[in-house]
Amino acid sequence: MKASSANLELKEKAGIAAANLIENGMTVGIGTGSTVEFFVKELGRSVKEESLSIKGVTTSHQSKILCYQLGIQVLDVGMLDEIDLAVDGADEIDYSLNAIKGGGAAHTIEKIVATMAKKFILIGDESKLVDRLGLDTPIPIEVIPEAVGLVQKKTKALGADPRIRMAVRKDGPVISDNGNFIVDLYFKQLENLSEINNLLLSIPGVIETGLFIGMASQAFIAGADGVKVLKVEKEGN
Ligand code: A5P
Repeated sequence: MKASSANLELKEKAGIAAANLIENGMTVGIGTGSTVEFFVKELGRSVKEESLSIKGVTTSHQSKILCYQLGIQVLDVGMLDEIDLAVDGADEIDYSLNAIKGGGAAHTIEKIVATMAKKFILIGDESKLVDRLGLDTPIPIEVIPEAVGLVQKKTKALGADPRIRMAVRKDGPVISDNGNFIVDLYFKQLENLSEINNLLLSIPGVIETGLFIGMASQAFIAGADGVKVLKVEKEGN
């Protein structure tokens, strides 16, 4: 379940704008998805042409492969507890910079990397900005396969329509980089995002949700008028 790539030019602008923040010596969390691809390509260019020296902390097989291809050194995410900055795309972003992620099934490691970053920055084209999260885009959860029946029952009781994400060029479900299923939760109404996040995380077998609440301090949003930087006050940022 990925959004169409109609806004690739804008995604490229947002990715390049965020790459300008990266300085020599930084450890950089590298998200996943088509917008991040542009960010990484720009980093790769700076590494090659401007001798930029950074270490990448990747959130998926996709971003790891890309870093290797572009000559960006990659650190093992599991051996770290803090990094300088993380940059990632999103499926929806609200004006408080809360986000829904996981359209590419990578949100669990993305959330780990974003949490260990001193600064977490979202990038996207303007179609990602919404007034209210979760009404047009489902909330993905990563689920241990053995729990998928239980999780469907429990999330229905919370008002969701849970759908196991099916693969496109593979029979059966999408299997995440961590070997789990993704269940997309469609809600007709969503009042309290933090509460629903906590309720989902309390279901046995749910590993992580795609709700990123209060994590980002900035968002680079590209539109017809250029790239706008949205900011929220966060401690330490
Ligand atoms: C990966 O699981 C997601 O969180 C992506 O970051 C999100 O889907 C944004 O993807 P695009 O940049 O491809 O729109």
